[in-house]
Amino acid sequence: MSLLGPIYKRYKFLLNKADKKDVDALYMLLYNQVHNLDQALPLATAQTIGTFGFQWGELQEGEAMLSDPWFKENVTKLISENETLLKKDWFKGKDIMDCGCGGGRWSYGLAKLGANITAVDINESAIEATKSVLSEFSVKKQFIQTPLEQLSSFFPDGKQFDMVWSWGVIHHCGSFTKALAEVAARVKEGGFIYMYLYGRESLSFDEDIQLFRNRVYYNTLPSWKEKEAFLLEKAHGDKTKVHQYHDIFAPLLNRRLDFSYMKKALEDLGFTDVTRTTKSPELFIRAVKTKMKKEDEEMIIHNDNNLPWINRYSM
Ligand SMILES: C[S@@+](CC[C@H](N)C(=O)[O-])C[C@H]1O[C@@H](n2cnc3c(N)ncnc32)[C@H](O)[C@@H]1O
Repeated sequence: MSLLGPIYKRYKFLLNKADKKDVDALYMLLYNQVHNLDQALPLATAQTIGTFGFQWGELQEGEAMLSDPWFKENVTKLISENETLLKKDWFKGKDIMDCGCGGGRWSYGLAKLGANITAVDINESAIEATKSVLSEFSVKKQFIQTPLEQLSSFFPDGKQFDMVWSWGVIHHCGSFTKALAEVAARVKEGGFIYMYLYGRESLSFDEDIQLFRNRVYYNTLPSWKEKEAFLLEKAHGDKTKVHQYHDIFAPLLNRRLDFSYMKKALEDLGFTDVTRTTKSPELFIRAVKTKMKKEDEEMIIHNDNNLPWINRYSM
């Protein structure tokens, strides 16, 4: 049962009575509360975590997932040549933490490249899915179920990683600032942080508010049957797109960040060489803790015209 449904139902009469101006103001207020950088509205944080729990338990298959033969076939190439712009050889034997591993598609690719994997997620269903996809690899594996905001309590020895990878996660965390600081602290000197975040440039503020209103509406639908019908309508009946539309409409908490903000935030956390690896209004960011190692300089792939691989899937 959606957490938001009963609240919406209780107060819907107010929305019906109010002027458009008042309704806009209410949504703006709610949007700002939900997307607060340091402490998102707790109800929205819990709701967002819940939707991902459902996604990795019940809705694992879809485009750009491991059930998609093209994605599975190309995932190592994507990690190297599209996401990080680091040569494949760099990954072999490295210790990499996948923060917010979800169904394990990136952990799978990173393990296939020969990296040892520590997979972290707040949801048990995500950890179980990732365990399952990594079972065929003999690399070292560790699984941690925790909010990223509490990551350091799992590393009393101060262990750090050659790379911390986090794809599409930190913008959903209850505290963006705390989660970013915690993942950044787990990167070794000379190691990399790599993350994908929603970019502010990709959607105007007005469009974002409209999307948020649709998300609120989606979350008031009382049953999965009605939710699935909503998603299928958006997907023009294409069942392979239901997973992606669920990802767009179900979580209420989806912050959009500016690159200039992220660059400064990472520099304040001790990173240099903060680079957008992909030509996209979204943020594909690679940065180095303190200073890049000499031997890693030759592992960098230089490509100023790297377009997002995700564009192959139309929405
Ligand atoms: C959009 S999914 C991305 C999953 C995966 N990185 C991928 O690209 O397939 C976001 C993931 O972040 C996890 N998540 C959300 N908030 C979190 C938090 N505070 N701490 C750890 N994981 C979180 C969710 O459970 C979900 O698996």
